[in-house]
Amino acid sequence: FPRSFSQLHSQTQLPSFGIAFDIDGVILRDHTPIGGSPQALRKLYHHNSGALKIPYVFLTNGGGFRESKRAMQLSELLGVNISPSQVLQGHSPFKQLVNRYENELIVAVGKGEPAAVMFEYGFKNVLSIDEYASCFDDIDPLAQYKEWITKTVANQSRTFEEIGPRKSIHSERVQAAFVVSDSVDWSRDIQVLCDILRSGGLPGKEIGHQPPLYFAHDDLKYQATFPSERLGMGAFRIALESIFNRIHFNALEYTSFGKPNAFVFKNAETILKQIASSLDHEVHVVNHPDDRSHFKTLYMIGDNPSVDIKGARKAGHPWFSILTRTGVFKGKENPSDFPADLVVDTVEDAVDYILRKEC
Ligand code: G3P
Ligand code: MG
Repeated sequence: FPRSFSQLHSQTQLPSFGIAFDIDGVILRDHTPIGGSPQALRKLYHHNSGALKIPYVFLTNGGGFRESKRAMQLSELLGVNISPSQVLQGHSPFKQLVNRYENELIVAVGKGEPAAVMFEYGFKNVLSIDEYASCFDDIDPLAQYKEWITKTVANQSRTFEEIGPRKSIHSERVQAAFVVSDSVDWSRDIQVLCDILRSGGLPGKEIGHQPPLYFAHDDLKYQATFPSERLGMGAFRIALESIFNRIHFNALEYTSFGKPNAFVFKNAETILKQIASSLDHEVHVVNHPDDRSHFKTLYMIGDNPSVDIKGARKAGHPWFSILTRTGVFKGKENPSDFPADLVVDTVEDAVDYILRKEC
């Protein structure tokens, strides 16, 4: 690099830029680092102390685990110290709805620990769809063919015995359903969600007003370990919506969070500012009182043109989009529907480009 990192530091300037990394298809495929991601991230820390030098966050639509747990998993996989505040997941904005549903019965859907996620956000009366379904005999007629069911229920944070006595659950109205992460059992989840939504939150009872339904994101596909993309939460939403609309007189109403919504990028900018201002507080205040108020450039590094690049483009200044070839996008040319500001092979190439330009 033309100017070294130590020079950047000795100038006592905070960087006027920050980076948002997509995870699936950029940093990881399932649990495997890709595209030189560990090396790329290491470049954002001071060599000697290991302290963070460049403000960055992970801006993923994925989830299923609390931000604190995800930060620990990522730190282990990538070999750098990642704090929970750097992990922005598709479901993270659900916490803004806590005032509305704090003590109401809600159902949380998806892989991982969807109920633990919502509980940590402050929702006090939340059941995972596994727990909820286990309170209703015969709600899933296919359950007897699903060998994993007994094991899954045994592994829940709350056991069947603990939920079992809540017989009142049958008369307690579900006030909202949250799809936190990818559904593990589409057939059971579509069945139970249709029951909840059609009956006004009381499965098995009469038709009622549809409770609100929230999705953490609407990704049709994403990149996991398998060579071609996998069906994501957006595909599950289409399946649920198509079926619901065939069996019910009102069309399904729902709200989707996550990228490419512009508010996700606004929030990432706010968090990046907070991270930047915690980097070198004292020196910064003395020498550069205004630098903290805004970034000149924020880089979004993503693999999905219709999610990451579309979102960064919609968010506008100061976002600059970089598309990698390690995930959903595998083409040669910049895609014409959502062209990125830059296309590179890997996340390491992207970070090298940024550091060459900025430092
Ligand atoms: O299920 C997660 C996937 O849809 C997207 O994750 O990290 O590429 O935003 P990410
Ligand atoms: Mg991705």
